[in-house]
Amino acid sequence: MPVVKFDPHLSNFLMHGDRRFFLTSLDNSIFLVADNCPHRGGPLHLGYFNCQKNTITCPWHGLVVSTNRLQQNAMPLVWRNDIAIAVLPQTKPQSIAFQHRHLLATSEVGIK
Ligand code: FES
Repeated sequence: MPVVKFDPHLSNFLMHGDRRFFLTSLDNSIFLVADNCPHRGGPLHLGYFNCQKNTITCPWHGLVVSTNRLQQNAMPLVWRNDIAIAVLPQTKPQSIAFQHRHLLATSEVGIK
């Protein structure tokens, strides 16, 4: 299983094969959550974050996804100083790429 390290101020978006993840803050902790909408894979990081209902509305067809659901399937992170470390699931060799994207579906200050 590949171990990746990244600075969340420089990279907030991870592509692992055909899966995508973005950083967001839930319950005062930062998680790497799946970006692929459960409906048809839309980009949840571009959705509308409702901090009162703790939901993200997918920008493609409007599916409302609870942050609890995202949190349950989030990639666990370990922190060393300001560096995030994640262990990625590996079923076969897949490309890994980090990006810094503008995140609309985040409540978080400091990791945009
Ligand atoms: S892909 Fe997200 S609602 Fe359809």
